[in-house]
Amino acid sequence: MINCAIIGYGYWGPNLVRNFAATPNTSVHTVVDLRPERLALVSRVYPNINVTSDIDSIWSNEEIDAVIIATPVFTHYDLAKKALQAGKHVLLEKPMTDTVAHAEELISLANQHGKVLMVDHTFLYTSAVQKMKSLIESGELGDVKYFDSTRINLGLIQQDVNVLWDLAPHDISILDYLIPAKPVSVQATGVSHIHNGIENIAYLTVKYAHDFIAHFHCSWSSPVKIRMMLLGGDKKMVVFNDMEPTEKIRIYDTAHTVSTDEEKQRILVDYRVGDVFIPKLEIKEALGGMAKDFIQSIMTGSKPIASYDSGLNTIRILEAAQISIKEQGREVSL
Ligand SMILES: NC(=O)c1ccc[n+]([C@@H]2O[C@H](COP(=O)([O-])OP(=O)(O)OC[C@H]3O[C@@H](n4cnc5c(N)ncnc54)[C@H](O)[C@@H]3O)[C@@H](O)[C@H]2O)c1
Repeated sequence: MINCAIIGYGYWGPNLVRNFAATPNTSVHTVVDLRPERLALVSRVYPNINVTSDIDSIWSNEEIDAVIIATPVFTHYDLAKKALQAGKHVLLEKPMTDTVAHAEELISLANQHGKVLMVDHTFLYTSAVQKMKSLIESGELGDVKYFDSTRINLGLIQQDVNVLWDLAPHDISILDYLIPAKPVSVQATGVSHIHNGIENIAYLTVKYAHDFIAHFHCSWSSPVKIRMMLLGGDKKMVVFNDMEPTEKIRIYDTAHTVSTDEEKQRILVDYRVGDVFIPKLEIKEALGGMAKDFIQSIMTGSKPIASYDSGLNTIRILEAAQISIKEQGREVSL
């Protein structure tokens, strides 16, 4: 049995408690929050789970094997560092940390203490993303040429992080999972309409050494909610529309081919527009798969899908994007 403490019972914490409580070989031992009203709610829903606002009691409690951190991002590094130093396995909410240096330090601590350090990149465990991964790996899409993501709505304007740090970790972690090649540079622009230096609209381009390109559009200022991702191969293309209740993935047998007309010395582009296929996806809660992966990696030593590498690669892009935004879209090497 792996005994877990979950720190932070705000918006996301209850989803983690519910999923870890349902995970085999797992017990939610304690929930920690600074707000007594949130702890009272835990006790009402789960009378058998201990609650405390004394965070230090977690580090010294030998019954607790793993700590799950669902607090605001600026607290992640400090809490995870204390947990790892106390010999606990750690699952951090996304984004992993607020800087690359902090993420690297946590990774080296986890390795030093031989503990699992993982990040809740929930989307990697969805049936839709798993399907996109298998379409790439089976070669059905051909050579993948672009990734284009839009995540916009009338969102809650955060006080501590901009819209990219809030929304793009999901999409960047999906890019990192789907495309094994390493990006070489980023360019980003954004604007703060409340003039507090926290961008509410941002556009991010991630470049690679070959002719693959990724683009992200994130906004808290859109009247409509769009959660859409395009993945273009030179054989087929995929649209992932997360607003669709069931038919989230559409595979388009559509592409263009380029050839050269030697005689007339010009480039010819041929278009192929074929059928659209909607695959049946397994209906499952992604967070449950994520919780299982964390517990399994503690028990067996297996590498989780949302490993610390996934966390670090995501932060690298976000940190470089932040620099690029502040320097009016300068291309920043990774
Ligand atoms: N994986 C996902 O899809 C997903 C979705 C939403 C949020 N998140 C992430 O979850 C984290 C929390 O977000 P949220 O929206 O739940 O925030 P929130 O502000 O609603 O909740 C955070 C909770 O942590 C508590 N807290 C803060 N500092 C603490 C400390 N030092 N010790 C104990 N408790 C403390 C607060 O009292 C609050 O109840 C963030 O990293 C966010 O990005 C992930």
